[in-house]
This record gives sequence, C-alpha cells and structure tokens, in this order.
Amino acid sequence: MAAHAAQFVDCHGPGPDPRLFFSPGRVNLFGGHLDYNGGPVMPTAIDRGTFIAARSRSDRLLRMASAYDPQVVEVDLDQLPATRVSKWVDYPLGVIVELAAQVAGPGSALPGGLDILYGGDLPIGSGLSSSASICVGTALMLDSLWGLELSNLDRVRVALRAERHFVGVQCGIMDPYAIGCAREGHLLWLDCKDESIEYLPIDGTQLSILVTNTGVQRALAASEFNRRVDQCAQAFDTLRSSSPEATCLRDIPLDVFESMRGSMDPVLADRAEHVIHEVRRTFEAREHLLAGNPGGMGECMTQTHESLRSLYQVSCPELDLLVETAAGCPGAFGARLTGAGFGGCTVTLVRRGEERDVQASLEARFEGEFGRRPQVEVFEGDPGPREITSA
Ligand code: GLA
Repeated sequence: MAAHAAQFVDCHGPGPDPRLFFSPGRVNLFGGHLDYNGGPVMPTAIDRGTFIAARSRSDRLLRMASAYDPQVVEVDLDQLPATRVSKWVDYPLGVIVELAAQVAGPGSALPGGLDILYGGDLPIGSGLSSSASICVGTALMLDSLWGLELSNLDRVRVALRAERHFVGVQCGIMDPYAIGCAREGHLLWLDCKDESIEYLPIDGTQLSILVTNTGVQRALAASEFNRRVDQCAQAFDTLRSSSPEATCLRDIPLDVFESMRGSMDPVLADRAEHVIHEVRRTFEAREHLLAGNPGGMGECMTQTHESLRSLYQVSCPELDLLVETAAGCPGAFGARLTGAGFGGCTVTLVRRGEERDVQASLEARFEGEFGRRPQVEVFEGDPGPREITSA
C-alpha cells in the first residue's frame, strides 16, 4: 500500500496525501454457475485484491490511472460517457455513471473531480473477480470521498449495475456480494433467489484454500458466459411449463426435469442437469461444512468440476489436469475450477500443513504436461472493502 501511495504521486503529482482503499477478490468454493439461476453459492473474500488511492481535485475532472496501464484516462464529471470504451476503465466508469444516474441524480449533482490510481495484487481475468473487486472498491472510495452515505448493500448493488448495464456482462449477483458482504473466517452463504445471507465459519486451523492459476487467458469468457446465461433461461422456459410454481431454474424438481429431458434440446438439457444437481450438491456441501467434514466438502467440489466439464462445458484441459491431480493428493480434499471457467484458476481444499506437498504435486504434473509452471498460492480470508489508514 505504501508503494501504491508513492506511485500515486509519480502519476498525479505532489499535493495532499491520497486516501487509500483496499477491496478484496473472492474465490467461490460451492455453487458453480448457480447465482444467475437463483441457486445458493458459498464464496469467500481473499487477502488479495485492488488498491485504490484517491484525492479530491478543485475542478470537475476525474483522472483515472492504473498501475498496469501508463495512459491516464480523463473524464469530465458533467459529460460522463453513455457507453463503454472497452478498456479497464469501464469498471470504475460504470460505477460512476450508475451512481450519477441512480444515487446522486443528474451528473451535475456529483461532487468534485478526483485523481485516482488503481493497482493491486490480484491476478486479472483469472476467475478471482478482479472486476467486482474494482467496482465495489470504487463504490466505497466514491462514497467516502464524496460523502454519499451509502449503505453496504447500496455499494454492492451499484457495483452490480455497473458490470451489468455499463460493461455489459450478464453476471449474477455472487461476486459483489462475496466482496461487499465478506466476513473473515467465514464462507458466505448467499441464496441468490431472495438475496439472503448467512455466515458459515470455516476452520482455518484445519483447512487451507489453495488457488492454482493455469495462466490460460479466458478470451471467450464474456461471450460464452452470456451464452450460458441465455441457455439456462431457455431451459427454464421449457421446464416451467411442467412446474408452474417455479420462478427460476433452481426451483425445477429433479423428477420434472427427468420426465422432460428426452424432449428437450440436448445442450439445454445438459445445462439444466448441471444446475439442478449443483443446487443439491451445494446444500450437501453446506451440511458437510457445518458437520466439520472436509472430506465430504472436497468430494462435492470434485463432482462439481466434473459436471462443469461435461455438462456445462466451461472447463479446459489445464483445469481438468489440476483437479485430477488434486484428487490423487493425500493432503487435498477436492478441487474444482472457480469463477466462470474457460481457463483461470482452480480452488483446492487442503488439510492445513499439507500445502507444500499438494503444491509440489500440482506443479510437477502440470509442468510435465504443459511445459510450464502454474502459479500456486494459499489465500487467507479477508474482512472486506475498507479504507486503509496506515500505509
Ligand atoms: C462469474 C460471474 C459470477 C458467477 C460465476 C460462475 O464469476 O461473474 O456471477 O456466475 O462466474 O459461478
């Protein structure tokens, strides 16, 4: 953070010290592709994320810079763009545009300009929710500097609208909730049908969360992700005719699905089959967590991965190899791809103390097959977005 503050001065020049904020990323352990189908999910915030340094200006300019991109983007608060510019800056811009439209009223009602620098230690585009981390962090930073007095849920919702409306990804609600409502030492139980929340303790003295980055860039992630969302909506349209009470795919009973499967488009049927079983598995994983049974949790994860691979078709050979390798490691309980898939990371549940052995197996097997090392890291939990008062 101190380095980030110093970089802010290099970028925006001397002046009063900027205020510093941190917003974590998240890793999802259970409930793969359930959030936009109304199902439950169990993510947790991680101790890597986005750093934001910001300082007020005396004019009405927003000058936004990134530690990853030397070009400073300048926007007039009174002439906010109506559409995205297809760069990283779309995420913070989306939050500003949504705040202007829905919280603060017309653009002119927004307080004064800001110099901002984004950075962080979260791998970008790897399924650890760098985008929601930026959006929720931006909402907190603007709330603090502009004195908007938003609630935590206001910030979560504005971040979600920024991604959905401005950036144009039909993402579910999981990521901004996982970040904005984080509690250290807990998995968040988020029921995406009614947006209710519970905190389920995870025993960090017994369990480690190991994340392995395949380094495979998720080039098709946004378009393929939106396709899965559409396919699930179509599957639900067919299935609801036999289940009039259902309001989302999560509500379709297994027997209804099985009686209609034969008459459905086979791809849509596969997508629905994943969702319906994944809902059951997520409730099962919750029971295992509450009963202190990591072996059961790990089995659910590995089954989830198989379903995401074969029925939902969002995996790739690199992810599959890591999950298969983890399944053969004595210190690992189970693994699955995390986030949207199509590359990115796996998450592995590991017995505390066995991380190195599991890491060595994953690296050796991956290197043998693909000729390069994946990045393997243990992530600890995080209490959620906050202002950092001592750099
Ligand atoms: C992405 C989306 C989330 C969720 C996951 C899949 O991370 O942003 O809303 O749908 O994929 O579980």
